[in-house]
Amino acid sequence: MKAVVYRRYGPPDVLHIEEVPKPEPADDEVLIKVHASAVNRLDMHVREAEASYGLGYQLVARLVLGVRGPRHPIAGSEFSGQVAAAGAAVHEFKPGDEVFGVTGLRFGANAEYVAVRARSRIALKPGNITFDEAAGIADGFLSASGCLRQAHLERGTTVLVYGASGSIGTAGVQLARHLGAHVIAVCQAKDFELARSLGAAELIDYTIEDFTKNGRQYDVIFDAVGKLSFSRSRNSLKSGGWYLPTDGARNLVLAATTRRFGDKRVAMGMGSTTPKQDLQWLKQLIEAGDYRPVIDRIYPMDQVVEAARYVETRQKVGNVVLKVS
Ligand SMILES: NC(=O)c1ccc[n+]([C@@H]2O[C@H](COP(=O)([O-])OP(=O)(O)OC[C@H]3O[C@@H](n4cnc5c(N)ncnc54)[C@H](OP(=O)(O)O)[C@@H]3O)[C@@H](O)[C@H]2O)c1
Repeated sequence: MKAVVYRRYGPPDVLHIEEVPKPEPADDEVLIKVHASAVNRLDMHVREAEASYGLGYQLVARLVLGVRGPRHPIAGSEFSGQVAAAGAAVHEFKPGDEVFGVTGLRFGANAEYVAVRARSRIALKPGNITFDEAAGIADGFLSASGCLRQAHLERGTTVLVYGASGSIGTAGVQLARHLGAHVIAVCQAKDFELARSLGAAELIDYTIEDFTKNGRQYDVIFDAVGKLSFSRSRNSLKSGGWYLPTDGARNLVLAATTRRFGDKRVAMGMGSTTPKQDLQWLKQLIEAGDYRPVIDRIYPMDQVVEAARYVETRQKVGNVVLKVS
């Protein structure tokens, strides 16, 4: 089968198409014929072994991902497709089922076939969206749900989503609105219409206005793009408010200390703690018309280098899809 492979860490050019053996599903796995996959920020981070974060991060990343080169050389962590075969112990899925999901740190999704544990992050595809649309939605949603759940949103909670136009940001706006929050989206004016259509009640253009200086306070500040800090946001949080980052090891320390001291807390989202249920929830939301995929660009598989270069600009709006078949 054809797959996007990289044998060493580095820039997008390390990615290439290779002919590799088709995976054999184990007893507890399903083999998926991939229709579409995604190129996302996780792929970017692991392809360069977190080099842009400095030597310390890079060393830890290599211990996890493979010291000399990637332990899992097939790129990609999100997929949509059809079940081609199911292992003997799988009862949840059968051949022909249309599915979507995330392989996480096992990667392998930028390929014609991928084997996935049936009990892991895989669910039936929503019936009202295409394979292309389904390929890019899982990771952003699981990241957003993992973060927002920690702040226990209620009807009327004010949630400022910083970086509302990204993958996690577009998911965060929709999910917070669904949970009854009053959403303030921070993005560029070119994306105001999108953010409003996803459920933002107020909009702030970060190139014109610094929300930390507008004198207002919010119940929750969700940094969906890793550009803020707790110290910068603290005065914009109400007493008892939550700062929710998606990035940065320092936030792990802050999460531990603010739990014990002060009246404003940091909660570091490390992804959903109930990912399988959350994917089923996402399916229901989409089928109910209460959530929609946001796809920026779709590239054919043989243009994966161009797709990865675009993701590296950090300017994608929503998600970038890789069409496999
Ligand atoms: N460590 C990991 O493995 C991992 C994995 C996944 C995600 N993450 C983290 O999660 C965060 C979000 O990921 P993502 O995939 O959702 O990002 P993304 O989709 O790549 O975010 C791109 C969006 O961010 C907006 N943006 C860029 N700079 C901004 C700024 N200064 N203020 C406001 N918006 C800005 C861009 O809009 P404009 O073009 O208008 O600026 C663009 O629409 C990142 O911090 C990422 O590192 C980490």
